Amino acid sequence: MEHIPHYRLSREAVYTRLFEHMTYGGDYYPEQWPEEVWQEDVRLMREAGVNLVSLGIFAWARLEPQPGQYDFDWLDRIMDLLHAYDIRVNLATATASPPPWLAKHHPESLPVTHDGTRLWPGSRQHYCPSNQAYRTAAQALVQRLAERYRHHPALVLWHVGNEYGCHVSACYCDESAAAFRRWLQQRYTTLDALNRAWGTAFWSQQYGDWEEILPPRRTPTFSNPSQQLDWHRFCSDALLECFEMECAILREYTPHIPITTNFMHAFKPLNYWKWAAREDLVALDMYPDPAEADAHVYAALNYDLMRSLGQGRPWLLMEQATSQVNWRPYNFVKQPGQMRLWSHQAIARGSQGVMFFQWRQSCAGAEKFHSAMVPHVGTNSRIWREVVALGQELRRLDILLPSRIQAKVAIMWDWESWWALELEGKPSCSLRQIDQVRAFYEPLFARNITVDFVPPDGDLQSYRVVLIPNLYLVRETTAQRLADYVAGGGTVVIGFFSGIVDEHDHVWLGGYPAPFRRMLGVRIEEFIALPPQQHIGIITDDGNSYNAMLWSEVLELEGAIALAQYTTGFYAGYPAVTQNRFGQGIAYYLSTQLEAAGMSWLVQHVCDYAGVQPVYSTPPGVEAIVRQDGQRTWLYLLNHRATSIDVALNAPADDLLSGQRLATICHLEPYGVAILTPSHSSLTDSF
Ligand code: GAL
Repeated sequence: MEHIPHYRLSREAVYTRLFEHMTYGGDYYPEQWPEEVWQEDVRLMREAGVNLVSLGIFAWARLEPQPGQYDFDWLDRIMDLLHAYDIRVNLATATASPPPWLAKHHPESLPVTHDGTRLWPGSRQHYCPSNQAYRTAAQALVQRLAERYRHHPALVLWHVGNEYGCHVSACYCDESAAAFRRWLQQRYTTLDALNRAWGTAFWSQQYGDWEEILPPRRTPTFSNPSQQLDWHRFCSDALLECFEMECAILREYTPHIPITTNFMHAFKPLNYWKWAAREDLVALDMYPDPAEADAHVYAALNYDLMRSLGQGRPWLLMEQATSQVNWRPYNFVKQPGQMRLWSHQAIARGSQGVMFFQWRQSCAGAEKFHSAMVPHVGTNSRIWREVVALGQELRRLDILLPSRIQAKVAIMWDWESWWALELEGKPSCSLRQIDQVRAFYEPLFARNITVDFVPPDGDLQSYRVVLIPNLYLVRETTAQRLADYVAGGGTVVIGFFSGIVDEHDHVWLGGYPAPFRRMLGVRIEEFIALPPQQHIGIITDDGNSYNAMLWSEVLELEGAIALAQYTTGFYAGYPAVTQNRFGQGIAYYLSTQLEAAGMSWLVQHVCDYAGVQPVYSTPPGVEAIVRQDGQRTWLYLLNHRATSIDVALNAPADDLLSGQRLATICHLEPYGVAILTPSHSSLTDSF
């Protein structure tokens, strides 16, 4: 590496350099192959238009075969080779899978499940996040890597760990117990405060000594919910500490290189709001299931969440499959064109490129039947041809890089409330956070209304509508911010079983949902959980009837008006959906789970009232989304159907992909894509 010139760039410059072109590439594991193959790899990478690879993600054992004995020569060679071919490197810190020697010398570094089972080496992620031996060894490796590669010109991004928490998001060992106690001492200072917060007067749980406190290990029945909630917070923080420990080293050596780690969709164990604030770039691994007809809807939700985690900044699709995965019971292939379509979908929603797991399909190991950019059968294959075609196509899309996505509607998303909601002992065990979020998101997606996600303490001012599918746990400050937002002219829609407990999972007394009661103008007297499969009815004031399920409530109006009423049960005639004027704005309440048609009715009503328009009206199955920069508007049309379709245009437009000027119709092939920019006037309905 001595021949490589020393230079230093500012973070901004590297950031710009990172997204100078649409990113294209994938995880690259040269350590799985003889070096002759590397030459073919770089040649094929060039052919496919690959410009970034993630290197070394699971290479710890190869980089440090025995404690303190490092072997970087092979990594030097591949880094140099990649650089020679103008392929940049997203260098991993390699700490996601410790080498076998760590478990041999430090068996206490292995994680323990809540029933006391120790997890053994032989797969990956077998470490306790609070274990000191793991942390020390990881720090030493990262320091060596940072020292060695800090000036390497191929290095443009650091990839810390890998999918934190994916397999092991919590460890219940004694070292974790001690770390949990330290975390609690910081949070509560005194045992009295902890006893109050955990409601330990219940079931004789009062603690008289910090040493008595344990993680919520397997107990005879429900363990203390406030303790479990703090445990969720602690576990997310324990992994975040590992991440930050590595970041501190990297920032010291390479302040000019941005840092990321790959997130996993709407992943419950980690509070990604907190995590995203500590990294430079949000990156996502997304594996929609081709077997599911609406897989692209959930993918869109996740892309919007990633964009929002980065506060609208660029994010990157770090991993997806070229075709099938190998970890589902049945692993379906992507249809011809579907990989291209889903790649464009991520870009349409803010990704600055497309990366895959992985470059070359492994011939050994647990993932050998997972698809890759270079399949086992080689380049004479459908997958390779699609990979090359996509790479070529992306080269034409650099013009999109400065553009961003704007939304007028936000969905509030809170990990703490999610954790608390899904603890045991609720009126219904079927109430799931994701189901509620999807119930609100799907009708918006179907209408091409773009959505951002916001945290409970997020800035709401740029949104006309804020949807809160469920916010079981709410802090006083959040309730106040929402009240201020509505009073100032905003619109909120709050779903059932929201505003029920405080940050310690203690019920807000004074009539449900106490913190929202005045704003909503309602008081809930009873929660009614419905048995699975049972449907009840509602009728709206404009004469529509819908089925509802899962949940209903006995609700009293305190200033609100009913937009729909129940038609079944002893509560027939009681309000099911309400609307309340509060200050300059409006607050809606939904006290049940409506079937999809009912959610469409509600969302349409709210959006019409608040003046929120779709970005473009399309036939069912065609997604529309807009990326914009100061001068230009790009309308992405994505056909998720297996049949072709014509979309009518409001005005003539140029298609960036085909290079054609379209007069009145945009014809989309099965799984087809168009990126339209108006020839003259504004093409979109609302932007
Ligand atoms: C991801 C992981 C990769 C690989 C991939 C397979 O979750 O980060 O290492 O296992 O899944 O789909």
